[in-house]
Amino acid sequence: MPFSKKARSLLIAVAGGHGALFGYLLCTGNDKFYQDVVMPVARLAISDGEKAHSAMITLCKWGLVPKYQCANDRLQTRVFGLDFCSPLGLAAGFDKHGDAIKGVYRMGFSHSEIGSVTPQPQPGNPKPRVFRLVEDQAIINRYGFPSVGHARAHENIQKGIRYKTGPLGINLGANKTSANVVQDFVDGVNAFADLADYFVVNVSSPNTPGLRVHQKREKLLELLTAVLKARDALQRKIPLLLKIAPDLTKEDKESIAQTALELNVDGLIVCNTTISRPETLKSIHKNEAGGLSGDPEKDVAMETLRDMFELTKGRIPIIALGGISSGEEAYRRIRAGASLIQVYTAFTYQGPPLVKRINDELEAFLKRDGLRNIADAVGIDRLGPSPSGYGDRLITLEEQIAASNV
Ligand SMILES: Cc1cc2nc3c(=O)[nH]c(=O)nc-3n(C[C@H](O)[C@H](O)[C@H](O)COP(=O)(O)O)c2cc1C
Repeated sequence: MPFSKKARSLLIAVAGGHGALFGYLLCTGNDKFYQDVVMPVARLAISDGEKAHSAMITLCKWGLVPKYQCANDRLQTRVFGLDFCSPLGLAAGFDKHGDAIKGVYRMGFSHSEIGSVTPQPQPGNPKPRVFRLVEDQAIINRYGFPSVGHARAHENIQKGIRYKTGPLGINLGANKTSANVVQDFVDGVNAFADLADYFVVNVSSPNTPGLRVHQKREKLLELLTAVLKARDALQRKIPLLLKIAPDLTKEDKESIAQTALELNVDGLIVCNTTISRPETLKSIHKNEAGGLSGDPEKDVAMETLRDMFELTKGRIPIIALGGISSGEEAYRRIRAGASLIQVYTAFTYQGPPLVKRINDELEAFLKRDGLRNIADAVGIDRLGPSPSGYGDRLITLEEQIAASNV
């Protein structure tokens, strides 16, 4: 019948048109489409946080994510001797085993931090161990370092390394049953010496009993001295960073800053998840044990950043993270002293378009304030405007004071 034929063709055309539009918005990483459709539907379809994490890793492994190229003169930056196409990287904990390199760089992250990786394979804590606090735009996790171990992670990274378009960090952890935590970190440095662009000593995860104790002065001194010795013995000089918790006393922060300055640690990562629970939390999961990340961690992460920048006198580059979900928040951290920033939780809620949006917004803030590049904005709220041209070294408080006295 002519009518039904026509109707069928029309139906096919409409469905095809919608399919094409859907595919187009999905592949091009349309921000609104992801926020309003893709991410909420994905959350409904895969209600378990850990399964959603695994699905995203699989998509990244095959490169089935929207492509965005970060290439912008104003956002390019150089920190601890490494070049970054923008300050925005993906935090540790997403690509725990080095499976997702292809997708992570394809989405436009300037750097990726793999891990935490432990020397021996270990399963981590019993499931469930990842909880979405949707109303709070937060996550509580108690993964407890599930890891394929150094050898498998090394193989994975070797396979994916050809896709990397920016620095690749290796975040080192210790086995839960380790008899010698210091040796675990030393082994990590040696295991990834041929692949890492920077190393992270992670003693700030709340989910491995006894790990955070290594942030205390004597333990930290012993640990960092041994790890830096192993690093210094390598053929290449690979920057070594320390990742700290937000749940530190004033004395802890002071002693960490002092140790980092004394030992010439190349950078600090501020900060890991928090064991605190702000009263504003609404989700039914708010009392789950583990580390809280995302929006409710923003204030404590900012306070820790400010303190560490002040205590290290702006001499040690800082990667800031904890609740960053917009260009505005990223810019606040940079002005408070961060040279680079990372995201994790906001990425799980907003998806790949977050990368372009943060970069675009950051660029707009730099332009608004007449700043030529990221280096000029670092610590400006604490130190005042700093002339660029300092390379990868931050202007110190003393230099700033001297400059303003001229
Ligand atoms: C599910 C999950 C797993 C994580 N695993 C690790 C890890 O293995 N090592 C690590 O150093 N940090 C880990 N983190 C902490 C993040 O790297 C980051 O410090 C923290 O989530 C704060 O940033 P955000 O608010 O942007 O998520 C993890 C975070 C989450 C949410």
